[in-house]
Amino acid sequence: MTNKILPILLLFFCFACSPKLDNDTYKKFKNSGQEITANVQAVLLSNVGKAIQTGGPEYAVEFCNLEAASIVDSLNGVFDCNISRVSAKNRNPQNALSTEQEKEMWKLFTEQQLADTLLQSGSNLVYYKPIKIGMPACLKCHGNPETDINPATGAKLQELYPADLATGYQLNDFRGLWKVEFTKAK
Ligand code: HEC
Repeated sequence: MTNKILPILLLFFCFACSPKLDNDTYKKFKNSGQEITANVQAVLLSNVGKAIQTGGPEYAVEFCNLEAASIVDSLNGVFDCNISRVSAKNRNPQNALSTEQEKEMWKLFTEQQLADTLLQSGSNLVYYKPIKIGMPACLKCHGNPETDINPATGAKLQELYPADLATGYQLNDFRGLWKVEFTKAK
């Protein structure tokens, strides 16, 4: 019994308090995390906005399917880190919660109204920030399948993401987490 609980407790304290991080490092990397996620979000938003203008949300779904991952990847190079989006209700199977840390963080951000956090994970630093359904436009692809998502878009989503969990959201819902992994402290 204790064999099982102790590691979980240790993990939790490790993640929740990041005891070994000094204040300056914490601030520096948290600021970087904030800047990077604001940047990536702006780039993704502007791309999805343009795609919607070009061919409506159904075209933009296809565009995101092809381009979202490579847009994020290209920014990994610019910022020298590893950026991803994860969610318990994921659309792309690659964005599912996969590590224990991601699952812990999901729980933490679900239960508490935290703005963001930085953790130490081995020699890496990892920044997490919640993603909200921050504007009505998100609902065109993540809202109620009957009322918010038009039939052509719904069909495209089913074709490209047969295991899609990412619909049924309302404005301001907690949608996912930004995760920015800094591979080495500099
Ligand atoms: C045009 C349709 C469309 C719109 C509008 C849209 N999304 Fe998405 N969203 C997608 C698609 C498609 C994916 C899967 C991308 C991929 O395959 O990597 C996705 C993935 C995501 C993910 C990654 C996790 C997952 O489920 O795979 C998050 C987080 C997310 N969207 C949040 C938002 C937010 C917040 C908004 C509004 C600011 C928004 N989306 C607007 C289509 C859309």
